[in-house]
Amino acid sequence: MYHKELDPFPANFLWGAASAAYQIEGAWQADGKGPSIWDTFSKLPGKTYLGTNGDVAVDHYHRFREDIQLMAEMGLKTYRFSVAWSRVMPDGEGAVNEAGLAFYEELVDELRRYQIEPVLTLYHWDLPQALQDKYNGWEGRETIAAFKSYCRVLFERLGSKVTYWVTMNEQNVLTSLGYRWELHPPNVADTKRMFQANHHLNLANADAIALFHELVPTRKIGPSFGYGPMYPLRADPNDVLAAENGEAFNNSWWLDVYCKGKYPKVIWKQLEALGIAPQLLEGDLELLKRAKPDFLGINYYHGGTAAQNTLEKERIASQEKAFSGIDPYLMQPKDQQAQTPETVLFQSVENPYLEKTDWGWEIDPVGFRVALRRVSDRYDLPIFVTENGLGAIDLEKDGKVHDSYRIDYLAQHILEMQKAITDGVTVIGYCAWSFTDLLSWLNGYKKRYGFVYVDRDEEDEKELTRIKKDSYYWYQEVIQNNGLRK
Ligand code: NOJ
Repeated sequence: MYHKELDPFPANFLWGAASAAYQIEGAWQADGKGPSIWDTFSKLPGKTYLGTNGDVAVDHYHRFREDIQLMAEMGLKTYRFSVAWSRVMPDGEGAVNEAGLAFYEELVDELRRYQIEPVLTLYHWDLPQALQDKYNGWEGRETIAAFKSYCRVLFERLGSKVTYWVTMNEQNVLTSLGYRWELHPPNVADTKRMFQANHHLNLANADAIALFHELVPTRKIGPSFGYGPMYPLRADPNDVLAAENGEAFNNSWWLDVYCKGKYPKVIWKQLEALGIAPQLLEGDLELLKRAKPDFLGINYYHGGTAAQNTLEKERIASQEKAFSGIDPYLMQPKDQQAQTPETVLFQSVENPYLEKTDWGWEIDPVGFRVALRRVSDRYDLPIFVTENGLGAIDLEKDGKVHDSYRIDYLAQHILEMQKAITDGVTVIGYCAWSFTDLLSWLNGYKKRYGFVYVDRDEEDEKELTRIKKDSYYWYQEVIQNNGLRK
Protein backbone atom coordinates (compact mmCIF):
# COMPACT_ATOMS: atom_id res chain seq x y z
CA MET A 1 0.00 0.00 0.00
CA TYR A 2 1.44 3.35 -0.96
CA HIS A 3 -0.85 5.58 1.08
CA LYS A 4 0.23 6.25 4.65
CA GLU A 5 -3.33 5.97 5.83
CA LEU A 6 -6.56 4.99 4.19
CA ASP A 7 -9.26 7.61 3.77
CA PRO A 8 -12.30 6.82 5.91
CA PHE A 9 -15.56 5.94 4.22
CA PRO A 10 -17.68 9.06 3.64
CA ALA A 11 -20.03 9.80 6.56
CA ASN A 12 -23.13 9.17 4.44
CA PHE A 13 -21.78 6.01 2.80
CA LEU A 14 -24.63 3.68 1.87
CA TRP A 15 -23.91 0.28 3.40
CA GLY A 16 -26.42 -2.14 2.03
CA ALA A 17 -27.47 -5.50 0.67
CA ALA A 18 -29.24 -6.53 -2.51
CA SER A 19 -31.77 -8.95 -3.94
CA ALA A 20 -33.90 -9.53 -7.04
CA ALA A 21 -37.65 -10.15 -7.30
CA TYR A 22 -37.61 -13.59 -8.90
CA GLN A 23 -34.99 -14.84 -6.46
CA ILE A 24 -36.88 -13.92 -3.28
CA GLU A 25 -40.53 -13.03 -3.73
CA GLY A 26 -42.33 -16.26 -4.58
CA ALA A 27 -46.09 -15.59 -4.85
CA TRP A 28 -45.68 -16.06 -8.56
CA GLN A 29 -49.38 -15.84 -9.33
CA ALA A 30 -50.58 -13.81 -6.36
CA ASP A 31 -52.81 -10.77 -6.66
CA GLY A 32 -52.92 -10.67 -10.44
CA LYS A 33 -49.24 -11.16 -11.27
CA GLY A 34 -48.57 -12.40 -14.80
CA PRO A 35 -45.94 -15.05 -15.57
CA SER A 36 -42.38 -14.05 -16.45
CA ILE A 37 -39.98 -15.89 -18.74
CA TRP A 38 -38.34 -17.32 -15.61
CA ASP A 39 -41.63 -18.77 -14.35
CA THR A 40 -41.91 -20.62 -17.64
CA PHE A 41 -38.28 -21.54 -18.22
CA SER A 42 -37.59 -22.92 -14.74
CA LYS A 43 -40.40 -25.44 -15.21
CA LEU A 44 -38.94 -26.96 -18.35
CA PRO A 45 -37.31 -30.29 -17.50
CA GLY A 46 -33.59 -30.19 -16.81
CA LYS A 47 -33.08 -26.43 -16.91
CA THR A 48 -32.34 -25.73 -13.23
CA TYR A 49 -30.72 -27.62 -10.38
CA LEU A 50 -33.23 -30.31 -9.28
CA GLY A 51 -35.91 -28.40 -11.14
CA THR A 52 -36.02 -25.55 -8.62
CA ASN A 53 -38.31 -22.67 -9.48
CA GLY A 54 -39.33 -19.36 -7.94
CA ASP A 55 -42.96 -20.22 -7.19
CA VAL A 56 -42.32 -19.77 -3.47
CA ALA A 57 -38.63 -18.78 -3.34
CA VAL A 58 -38.10 -17.40 0.19
CA ASP A 59 -41.64 -16.00 0.26
CA HIS A 60 -40.48 -12.43 0.70
CA TYR A 61 -43.76 -11.25 -0.84
CA HIS A 62 -45.56 -12.35 2.32
CA ARG A 63 -42.68 -11.83 4.76
CA PHE A 64 -41.22 -8.52 3.66
CA ARG A 65 -42.01 -6.85 6.97
CA GLU A 66 -40.11 -9.51 8.87
CA ASP A 67 -37.19 -9.18 6.44
CA ILE A 68 -37.12 -5.41 6.72
CA GLN A 69 -37.20 -5.76 10.50
CA LEU A 70 -34.02 -7.81 10.23
CA MET A 71 -32.47 -5.18 7.96
CA ALA A 72 -33.31 -2.45 10.44
CA GLU A 73 -31.85 -4.43 13.31
CA MET A 74 -28.68 -4.89 11.31
CA GLY A 75 -28.47 -1.15 10.73
CA LEU A 76 -28.63 -1.36 6.94
CA LYS A 77 -28.53 2.07 5.30
CA THR A 78 -29.75 0.92 1.93
CA TYR A 79 -31.51 -2.03 0.36
CA ARG A 80 -31.51 -2.84 -3.34
CA PHE A 81 -34.44 -4.83 -4.70
CA SER A 82 -36.02 -5.29 -8.10
CA VAL A 83 -39.58 -4.88 -9.27
CA ALA A 84 -41.17 -7.80 -11.09
CA TRP A 85 -42.43 -6.14 -14.26
CA SER A 86 -45.25 -8.70 -14.66
CA ARG A 87 -46.51 -7.97 -11.15
CA VAL A 88 -47.06 -4.36 -12.13
CA MET A 89 -48.10 -5.03 -15.72
CA PRO A 90 -49.19 -8.65 -16.09
CA ASP A 91 -48.97 -8.48 -19.90
CA GLY A 92 -45.85 -6.36 -19.92
CA GLU A 93 -47.78 -3.42 -21.38
CA GLY A 94 -51.25 -1.98 -21.15
CA ALA A 95 -53.25 -2.55 -17.98
CA VAL A 96 -51.60 -1.82 -14.64
CA ASN A 97 -52.17 -4.24 -11.78
CA GLU A 98 -52.85 -2.00 -8.80
CA ALA A 99 -52.27 -4.78 -6.27
CA GLY A 100 -48.82 -5.44 -7.67
CA LEU A 101 -47.92 -1.79 -7.62
CA ALA A 102 -49.25 -1.49 -4.08
CA PHE A 103 -46.84 -4.21 -2.94
CA TYR A 104 -43.82 -2.16 -4.00
CA GLU A 105 -45.27 0.99 -2.56
CA GLU A 106 -45.71 -0.72 0.80
CA LEU A 107 -42.21 -2.15 0.58
CA VAL A 108 -40.73 1.28 -0.04
CA ASP A 109 -42.79 2.86 2.73
CA GLU A 110 -41.69 0.16 5.16
CA LEU A 111 -38.03 0.69 4.25
CA ARG A 112 -38.41 4.44 4.65
CA ARG A 113 -40.02 3.93 8.06
CA TYR A 114 -36.64 2.57 9.20
CA GLN A 115 -34.60 5.14 7.25
CA ILE A 116 -33.38 2.47 4.87
CA GLU A 117 -32.76 4.04 1.46
CA PRO A 118 -34.46 1.94 -1.24
CA VAL A 119 -32.55 1.26 -4.46
CA LEU A 120 -35.02 0.12 -7.08
CA THR A 121 -33.96 -2.05 -10.02
CA LEU A 122 -36.35 -1.89 -12.95
CA TYR A 123 -35.16 -4.95 -14.83
CA HIS A 124 -33.53 -7.93 -13.18
CA TRP A 125 -34.10 -10.50 -15.94
CA ASP A 126 -37.77 -11.46 -15.38
CA LEU A 127 -39.31 -10.29 -18.64
CA PRO A 128 -43.10 -10.73 -18.81
CA GLN A 129 -43.79 -13.94 -20.73
CA ALA A 130 -46.46 -12.10 -22.74
CA LEU A 131 -43.77 -9.91 -24.33
CA GLN A 132 -41.63 -12.92 -25.15
CA ASP A 133 -44.62 -14.53 -26.87
CA LYS A 134 -45.85 -11.44 -28.65
CA TYR A 135 -42.68 -9.63 -29.70
CA ASN A 136 -39.98 -12.25 -29.31
CA GLY A 137 -38.88 -10.48 -26.14
CA TRP A 138 -35.91 -8.15 -26.50
CA GLU A 139 -35.49 -9.12 -30.13
CA GLY A 140 -38.58 -7.09 -30.97
CA ARG A 141 -38.36 -3.32 -30.88
CA GLU A 142 -41.89 -3.19 -29.44
CA THR A 143 -40.47 -4.41 -26.13
CA ILE A 144 -38.54 -1.13 -25.85
CA ALA A 145 -41.79 0.83 -25.86
CA ALA A 146 -43.37 -1.62 -23.42
CA PHE A 147 -40.45 -1.13 -21.03
CA LYS A 148 -40.81 2.61 -21.27
CA SER A 149 -44.51 2.42 -20.40
CA TYR A 150 -43.74 0.23 -17.39
CA CYS A 151 -41.00 2.60 -16.24
CA ARG A 152 -43.35 5.55 -16.56
CA VAL A 153 -45.80 3.92 -14.15
CA LEU A 154 -43.07 3.40 -11.56
CA PHE A 155 -41.50 6.84 -12.02
CA GLU A 156 -44.87 8.47 -11.54
CA ARG A 157 -45.81 6.36 -8.56
CA LEU A 158 -42.50 6.00 -6.72
CA GLY A 159 -40.37 8.83 -8.11
CA SER A 160 -40.91 10.94 -5.03
CA LYS A 161 -39.96 8.14 -2.64
CA VAL A 162 -36.96 6.45 -4.22
CA THR A 163 -33.68 8.28 -4.73
CA TYR A 164 -31.62 5.63 -6.55
CA TRP A 165 -32.92 3.75 -9.57
CA VAL A 166 -31.20 1.01 -11.53
CA THR A 167 -32.28 0.41 -15.12
CA MET A 168 -30.81 -2.88 -16.37
CA ASN A 169 -29.15 -5.44 -14.15
CA GLU A 170 -26.09 -7.05 -15.76
CA GLN A 171 -27.14 -6.67 -19.35
CA ASN A 172 -23.87 -8.35 -20.31
CA VAL A 173 -24.72 -11.48 -18.33
CA LEU A 174 -28.36 -11.76 -19.33
CA THR A 175 -27.57 -11.47 -23.04
CA SER A 176 -24.65 -13.93 -22.94
CA LEU A 177 -26.46 -16.55 -20.89
CA GLY A 178 -29.79 -16.07 -22.64
CA TYR A 179 -28.77 -15.76 -26.27
CA ARG A 180 -25.42 -17.44 -26.50
CA TRP A 181 -24.86 -20.12 -23.92
CA GLU A 182 -28.47 -21.37 -23.78
CA LEU A 183 -28.46 -21.35 -20.00
CA HIS A 184 -31.08 -18.71 -19.28
CA PRO A 185 -34.29 -17.90 -21.15
CA PRO A 186 -34.92 -17.46 -24.02
CA ASN A 187 -32.43 -20.32 -24.32
CA VAL A 188 -30.91 -19.34 -27.63
CA ALA A 189 -27.44 -19.90 -29.11
CA ASP A 190 -27.16 -17.29 -31.83
CA THR A 191 -24.74 -14.37 -31.65
CA LYS A 192 -26.49 -12.33 -34.32
CA ARG A 193 -29.73 -12.47 -32.37
CA MET A 194 -27.83 -11.78 -29.17
CA PHE A 195 -26.31 -8.55 -30.49
CA GLN A 196 -29.65 -7.39 -31.83
CA ALA A 197 -31.45 -8.06 -28.53
CA ASN A 198 -28.59 -6.33 -26.75
CA HIS A 199 -28.95 -3.24 -28.93
CA HIS A 200 -32.63 -3.07 -28.03
CA LEU A 201 -31.76 -3.36 -24.36
CA ASN A 202 -29.38 -0.43 -24.83
CA LEU A 203 -32.16 1.61 -26.37
CA ALA A 204 -34.57 0.63 -23.59
CA ASN A 205 -31.97 1.67 -21.03
CA ALA A 206 -31.45 5.03 -22.73
CA ASP A 207 -35.18 5.61 -23.15
CA ALA A 208 -35.79 4.92 -19.46
CA ILE A 209 -33.00 7.29 -18.43
CA ALA A 210 -34.26 10.07 -20.70
CA LEU A 211 -37.81 9.68 -19.39
CA PHE A 212 -36.61 9.60 -15.80
CA HIS A 213 -34.68 12.84 -16.23
CA GLU A 214 -37.83 14.43 -17.58
CA LEU A 215 -40.19 13.14 -14.88
CA VAL A 216 -37.95 12.86 -11.81
CA PRO A 217 -35.12 15.34 -12.38
CA THR A 218 -33.96 15.45 -8.77
CA ARG A 219 -33.26 11.72 -8.34
CA LYS A 220 -30.55 9.43 -9.73
CA ILE A 221 -30.59 6.66 -12.26
CA GLY A 222 -28.03 4.33 -13.84
CA PRO A 223 -27.47 0.75 -15.02
CA SER A 224 -25.83 -2.01 -12.93
CA PHE A 225 -23.12 -3.67 -14.92
CA GLY A 226 -21.31 -6.93 -14.13
CA TYR A 227 -17.74 -5.67 -14.45
CA GLY A 228 -14.70 -7.92 -14.44
CA PRO A 229 -11.26 -6.46 -15.29
CA MET A 230 -9.27 -8.33 -17.93
CA TYR A 231 -5.62 -9.13 -17.27
CA PRO A 232 -2.94 -10.26 -19.71
CA LEU A 233 -1.52 -13.69 -18.89
CA ARG A 234 2.06 -12.53 -19.55
CA ALA A 235 3.92 -9.30 -20.30
CA ASP A 236 4.12 -10.46 -23.92
CA PRO A 237 2.65 -7.51 -25.85
CA ASN A 238 0.46 -9.94 -27.74
CA ASP A 239 -1.16 -10.99 -24.48
CA VAL A 240 -1.55 -7.35 -23.50
CA LEU A 241 -3.33 -6.71 -26.76
CA ALA A 242 -5.51 -9.77 -26.16
CA ALA A 243 -6.43 -8.42 -22.71
CA GLU A 244 -7.34 -5.07 -24.24
CA ASN A 245 -9.55 -6.86 -26.73
CA GLY A 246 -11.11 -8.78 -23.87
CA GLU A 247 -11.69 -5.56 -21.95
CA ALA A 248 -13.41 -4.04 -24.98
CA PHE A 249 -15.50 -7.13 -25.72
CA ASN A 250 -16.51 -7.93 -22.14
CA ASN A 251 -16.84 -4.43 -20.72
CA SER A 252 -16.56 -1.38 -22.97
CA TRP A 253 -19.03 -2.92 -25.39
CA TRP A 254 -21.66 -1.99 -22.81
CA LEU A 255 -20.09 0.73 -20.71
CA ASP A 256 -19.11 2.93 -23.68
CA VAL A 257 -22.69 2.78 -24.91
CA TYR A 258 -24.12 3.65 -21.49
CA CYS A 259 -21.69 6.46 -20.77
CA LYS A 260 -20.47 7.76 -24.14
CA GLY A 261 -23.35 6.75 -26.36
CA LYS A 262 -21.20 4.81 -28.81
CA TYR A 263 -20.05 1.28 -29.54
CA PRO A 264 -16.28 0.62 -29.35
CA LYS A 265 -14.91 0.51 -32.88
CA VAL A 266 -12.64 -2.48 -32.48
CA ILE A 267 -15.55 -4.71 -31.58
CA TRP A 268 -17.98 -3.16 -34.01
CA LYS A 269 -15.62 -3.82 -36.93
CA GLN A 270 -15.22 -7.45 -35.90
CA LEU A 271 -18.96 -7.93 -35.69
CA GLU A 272 -19.47 -6.32 -39.06
CA ALA A 273 -16.83 -8.52 -40.62
CA LEU A 274 -18.61 -11.57 -39.23
CA GLY A 275 -22.03 -10.32 -40.31
CA ILE A 276 -23.41 -10.22 -36.77
CA ALA A 277 -23.41 -6.48 -35.97
CA PRO A 278 -26.78 -5.22 -34.78
CA GLN A 279 -28.99 -3.36 -37.17
CA LEU A 280 -29.34 0.31 -36.25
CA LEU A 281 -32.24 2.51 -37.21
CA GLU A 282 -32.21 6.25 -37.70
CA GLY A 283 -32.27 8.02 -34.36
CA ASP A 284 -30.81 5.10 -32.38
CA LEU A 285 -27.34 6.57 -31.93
CA GLU A 286 -28.76 9.97 -31.19
CA LEU A 287 -30.84 8.49 -28.34
CA LEU A 288 -27.86 6.55 -26.97
CA LYS A 289 -25.80 9.76 -26.96
CA ARG A 290 -28.48 11.85 -25.31
CA ALA A 291 -29.29 9.70 -22.27
CA LYS A 292 -26.46 9.59 -19.74
CA PRO A 293 -26.60 7.83 -16.38
CA ASP A 294 -26.12 9.78 -13.14
CA PHE A 295 -24.07 7.00 -11.55
CA LEU A 296 -22.73 3.62 -12.55
CA GLY A 297 -23.82 0.52 -10.68
CA ILE A 298 -21.04 -2.04 -10.58
CA ASN A 299 -21.56 -5.68 -9.66
CA TYR A 300 -18.20 -7.21 -8.93
CA TYR A 301 -17.44 -10.90 -8.56
CA HIS A 302 -14.24 -11.44 -10.53
CA GLY A 303 -12.41 -10.63 -13.73
CA GLY A 304 -10.73 -12.67 -16.43
CA THR A 305 -7.36 -13.35 -17.98
CA ALA A 306 -6.52 -13.29 -21.66
CA ALA A 307 -3.78 -14.74 -23.80
CA GLN A 308 -2.94 -14.20 -27.42
CA ASN A 309 -4.86 -16.55 -29.59
CA THR A 310 -2.31 -18.94 -31.01
CA LEU A 311 -4.93 -20.65 -33.09
CA GLU A 312 -5.98 -17.68 -35.13
CA LYS A 313 -4.28 -18.94 -38.26
CA GLU A 314 -6.32 -22.11 -38.10
CA ARG A 315 -9.44 -20.06 -37.65
CA ILE A 316 -8.75 -18.05 -40.75
CA ALA A 317 -8.01 -21.20 -42.69
CA SER A 318 -11.24 -22.79 -41.59
CA GLN A 319 -13.25 -19.61 -42.40
CA GLU A 320 -15.40 -20.08 -39.34
CA LYS A 321 -18.11 -17.45 -39.01
CA ALA A 322 -18.31 -17.04 -35.31
CA PHE A 323 -17.17 -14.69 -32.66
CA SER A 324 -14.82 -14.65 -29.74
CA GLY A 325 -14.80 -14.16 -26.04
CA ILE A 326 -16.74 -15.64 -23.19
CA ASP A 327 -19.10 -14.29 -20.63
CA PRO A 328 -17.38 -11.80 -18.33
CA TYR A 329 -17.71 -13.82 -15.21
CA LEU A 330 -20.15 -16.64 -15.24
CA MET A 331 -19.15 -18.99 -17.95
CA GLN A 332 -16.48 -21.19 -19.25
CA PRO A 333 -17.21 -22.57 -22.70
CA LYS A 334 -18.99 -25.91 -22.45
CA ASP A 335 -16.50 -27.40 -24.79
CA GLN A 336 -13.09 -25.83 -25.29
CA GLN A 337 -12.67 -27.47 -28.67
CA ALA A 338 -15.91 -26.01 -29.98
CA GLN A 339 -14.87 -22.61 -28.70
CA THR A 340 -11.40 -22.61 -30.16
CA PRO A 341 -12.02 -21.67 -33.78
CA GLU A 342 -14.09 -18.65 -32.84
CA THR A 343 -11.57 -17.10 -30.52
CA VAL A 344 -10.56 -14.22 -32.71
CA LEU A 345 -9.68 -11.45 -30.34
CA PHE A 346 -8.51 -13.18 -27.22
CA GLN A 347 -8.31 -16.54 -25.59
CA SER A 348 -9.67 -16.78 -22.05
CA VAL A 349 -7.33 -18.61 -19.73
CA GLU A 350 -7.07 -19.39 -16.03
CA ASN A 351 -5.26 -16.94 -13.81
CA PRO A 352 -2.42 -18.87 -12.14
CA TYR A 353 -2.37 -16.52 -9.12
CA LEU A 354 -5.95 -16.80 -7.92
CA GLU A 355 -7.84 -19.23 -5.71
CA LYS A 356 -11.39 -20.22 -6.55
CA THR A 357 -14.74 -20.57 -4.79
CA ASP A 358 -16.63 -23.87 -4.62
CA TRP A 359 -18.23 -22.85 -7.89
CA GLY A 360 -14.94 -22.18 -9.62
CA TRP A 361 -15.17 -18.39 -9.52
CA GLU A 362 -11.83 -16.70 -9.00
CA ILE A 363 -11.41 -14.85 -5.71
CA ASP A 364 -9.78 -11.54 -6.54
CA PRO A 365 -10.21 -8.66 -4.09
CA VAL A 366 -7.41 -6.63 -5.70
CA GLY A 367 -9.32 -6.94 -8.96
CA PHE A 368 -12.11 -5.06 -7.23
CA ARG A 369 -9.80 -2.10 -6.69
CA VAL A 370 -8.61 -2.39 -10.30
CA ALA A 371 -12.23 -2.47 -11.44
CA LEU A 372 -13.27 0.60 -9.47
CA ARG A 373 -10.26 2.59 -10.66
CA ARG A 374 -10.65 1.63 -14.31
CA VAL A 375 -14.34 2.40 -14.44
CA SER A 376 -13.93 5.66 -12.58
CA ASP A 377 -11.04 6.82 -14.79
CA ARG A 378 -12.83 5.96 -17.99
CA TYR A 379 -16.28 7.27 -17.27
CA ASP A 380 -15.85 9.75 -14.45
CA LEU A 381 -19.13 8.93 -12.74
CA PRO A 382 -19.89 8.17 -9.11
CA ILE A 383 -19.94 4.42 -8.58
CA PHE A 384 -22.51 2.50 -6.60
CA VAL A 385 -21.37 -1.05 -5.89
CA THR A 386 -24.70 -2.77 -6.40
CA GLU A 387 -23.44 -6.34 -5.83
CA ASN A 388 -20.49 -8.24 -4.40
CA GLY A 389 -20.53 -11.47 -2.46
CA LEU A 390 -19.59 -15.09 -2.02
CA GLY A 391 -21.72 -18.06 -3.05
CA ALA A 392 -21.08 -21.02 -0.75
CA ILE A 393 -22.65 -24.10 0.78
CA ASP A 394 -23.70 -22.97 4.26
CA LEU A 395 -24.40 -25.42 7.05
CA GLU A 396 -26.90 -24.60 9.74
CA LYS A 397 -26.64 -26.31 13.12
CA ASP A 398 -28.62 -25.48 16.24
CA GLY A 399 -29.71 -22.14 14.87
CA LYS A 400 -26.21 -21.00 13.93
CA VAL A 401 -24.32 -20.62 10.67
CA HIS A 402 -20.58 -20.10 11.03
CA ASP A 403 -19.71 -18.51 7.70
CA SER A 404 -16.24 -17.18 8.49
CA TYR A 405 -15.28 -17.74 4.82
CA ARG A 406 -17.90 -15.16 3.80
CA ILE A 407 -16.66 -12.70 6.39
CA ASP A 408 -13.10 -13.10 5.06
CA TYR A 409 -14.25 -12.62 1.50
CA LEU A 410 -16.30 -9.52 2.21
CA ALA A 411 -13.65 -8.00 4.50
CA GLN A 412 -10.98 -8.34 1.82
CA HIS A 413 -13.22 -6.73 -0.77
CA ILE A 414 -14.28 -3.90 1.50
CA LEU A 415 -10.63 -3.19 2.26
CA GLU A 416 -9.80 -2.97 -1.46
CA MET A 417 -12.80 -0.71 -1.98
CA GLN A 418 -11.48 1.57 0.73
CA LYS A 419 -8.11 1.62 -1.00
CA ALA A 420 -9.84 2.57 -4.25
CA ILE A 421 -11.61 5.40 -2.45
CA THR A 422 -8.24 6.49 -1.10
CA ASP A 423 -6.91 6.36 -4.66
CA GLY A 424 -9.56 8.91 -5.59
CA VAL A 425 -12.56 6.89 -6.76
CA THR A 426 -15.99 8.18 -5.75
CA VAL A 427 -18.03 5.29 -4.33
CA ILE A 428 -21.41 6.20 -2.91
CA GLY A 429 -22.52 2.84 -1.59
CA TYR A 430 -21.88 -0.87 -1.35
CA CYS A 431 -24.54 -3.57 -1.51
CA ALA A 432 -23.44 -7.04 -0.56
CA TRP A 433 -25.18 -9.81 -2.44
CA SER A 434 -27.42 -10.79 -0.71
CA PHE A 435 -29.49 -9.94 2.35
CA THR A 436 -31.38 -13.18 2.91
CA ASP A 437 -30.45 -16.40 1.20
CA LEU A 438 -32.24 -16.63 -2.08
CA LEU A 439 -32.84 -18.77 -5.11
CA SER A 440 -29.77 -18.94 -7.32
CA TRP A 441 -31.03 -18.86 -10.90
CA LEU A 442 -29.56 -22.22 -11.83
CA ASN A 443 -28.24 -23.57 -8.53
CA GLY A 444 -31.30 -23.59 -6.32
CA TYR A 445 -30.54 -23.17 -2.62
CA LYS A 446 -27.32 -25.10 -2.72
CA LYS A 447 -25.37 -21.94 -3.46
CA ARG A 448 -26.09 -19.35 -0.79
CA TYR A 449 -25.06 -15.73 -0.48
CA GLY A 450 -27.08 -14.21 2.35
CA PHE A 451 -26.36 -12.70 5.74
CA VAL A 452 -29.59 -14.35 6.82
CA TYR A 453 -30.00 -18.08 6.37
CA VAL A 454 -33.38 -19.29 5.11
CA ASP A 455 -34.31 -22.75 6.18
CA ARG A 456 -35.39 -24.45 2.98
CA ASP A 457 -33.98 -26.57 0.22
CA GLU A 458 -34.91 -27.45 -3.33
CA GLU A 459 -37.62 -29.98 -2.53
CA ASP A 460 -38.78 -28.89 0.87
CA GLU A 461 -40.07 -25.45 1.75
CA LYS A 462 -40.00 -26.19 5.51
CA GLU A 463 -40.90 -23.20 7.65
CA LEU A 464 -38.67 -20.75 5.78
CA THR A 465 -37.33 -19.65 9.15
CA ARG A 466 -34.82 -16.79 9.03
CA ILE A 467 -31.56 -17.40 10.94
CA LYS A 468 -28.84 -14.79 11.34
CA LYS A 469 -25.47 -16.06 10.19
CA ASP A 470 -22.19 -15.01 11.82
CA SER A 471 -21.68 -12.65 8.88
CA TYR A 472 -24.88 -10.83 9.86
CA TYR A 473 -23.38 -9.75 13.17
CA TRP A 474 -20.05 -8.96 11.53
CA TYR A 475 -21.64 -6.69 8.90
CA GLN A 476 -23.73 -5.02 11.60
CA GLU A 477 -20.44 -3.96 13.19
CA VAL A 478 -18.97 -2.81 9.89
CA ILE A 479 -21.96 -0.53 9.42
CA GLN A 480 -21.83 0.77 12.98
CA ASN A 481 -18.16 1.46 12.58
CA ASN A 482 -18.58 2.95 9.07
CA GLY A 483 -15.93 0.54 7.83
CA LEU A 484 -13.65 -2.24 8.93
CA ARG A 485 -12.12 -2.12 12.38
CA LYS A 486 -8.49 -1.05 12.33
C1 NOJ B 1 -25.48 -11.35 -10.37
C2 NOJ B 1 -26.97 -11.32 -10.51
O1 NOJ B 1 -27.39 -10.01 -10.63
C3 NOJ B 1 -27.68 -12.01 -9.37
O2 NOJ B 1 -29.01 -12.13 -9.70
C4 NOJ B 1 -27.00 -13.33 -9.10
O3 NOJ B 1 -27.71 -14.13 -8.22
C5 NOJ B 1 -25.60 -13.04 -8.63
N1 NOJ B 1 -24.89 -12.39 -9.68
C6 NOJ B 1 -24.84 -14.27 -8.22
O4 NOJ B 1 -24.72 -15.13 -9.30
